Amino acid sequence: METMSHAGRAAARRRLRARRRVRAVALLILAVALGMGAFAVLSPLLAGAEKASAVPSLVDQPPVAAALPAPRVEQVEASEAPCEAPEVVAALRDSDADALVAAFGGGESLRQAVLDGAAPCVRLDDPAMPWVVVNKLRPLDPIDYAPREVRRPAARVADVGLRADALAAFERLADAAAEGAGRIALYSGYRSYDTQVSTYAAQVGARGGGADALSARPGHSEHQLGLAADVVACGAWGCGDIYEVGGTAQGRWLAENAWRYGWIVRYEAGRSVTTGYDAEPWHLRYVGRGIAEAYQAGGFHTLEEFFGLPAAPDYD
Ligand code: DAL
Ligand code: ZN
Repeated sequence: METMSHAGRAAARRRLRARRRVRAVALLILAVALGMGAFAVLSPLLAGAEKASAVPSLVDQPPVAAALPAPRVEQVEASEAPCEAPEVVAALRDSDADALVAAFGGGESLRQAVLDGAAPCVRLDDPAMPWVVVNKLRPLDPIDYAPREVRRPAARVADVGLRADALAAFERLADAAAEGAGRIALYSGYRSYDTQVSTYAAQVGARGGGADALSARPGHSEHQLGLAADVVACGAWGCGDIYEVGGTAQGRWLAENAWRYGWIVRYEAGRSVTTGYDAEPWHLRYVGRGIAEAYQAGGFHTLEEFFGLPAAPDYD
């Protein structure tokens, strides 16, 4: 049996360690290669799954959809009882109409909630809110309501004013009209109950029974809210009459654009069966931006239809 010297054994151990290092490096390379191969195979599949989830299909839901938790009960309850939502409660406490519309998710959502009977906190007879509906069947409540503050706009042809919330919107409307079509001015705005007594009496004196198609009886006029604006068109020659507005560029512009500023033309032609009034292209009604947008988007022509209320062609 051959015996090794000490130096020979040391050399053999070095050779053994070198062979082990070579084997370890080879194994490492093999593992890396296998990993890259697996990634190359799997990555198209992963990308495909991502694309599929970006375009959800009703018939081919990814399995993960089945594992999604059911909506929490509180969420369902919150949407069914919007008046209890904290934002709604806060807006009502502050009498902030714009915030209330926003809390409902916009004018159309508010309208739907009212139609569904899910929003008892949105009262259509509250004169403080710009969407209050006043007509021949819906007198003001209280009948002698008067706004707390009435202010005069810059563009006016008489000593007339509007409720504070409508005034700012009227100033914006008048500025936009001047740019888009020509100047307008306020001819008649807020009218007290007593003023409406004489306004209506004057119409009865001039037209007898026909007055009811032109003038509201006291306690039934939107002018008493301070939210109605009778406007005239103005030019270099001065300002015209309310009865001329419909034939002017301003009248056409208002019919198309007033909603952008929170106003609607309240008494359109061909709608007297619902409103009880002949066409008044000069009579604008402030309802607030969110409601006006929904009114326009929905193609409505009367507030009664918008809120699903009965037509009001006559008094009770
Ligand atoms: N002219 C409208 C209807 C009013 O008197 O209120
Ligand atoms: Zn009017």
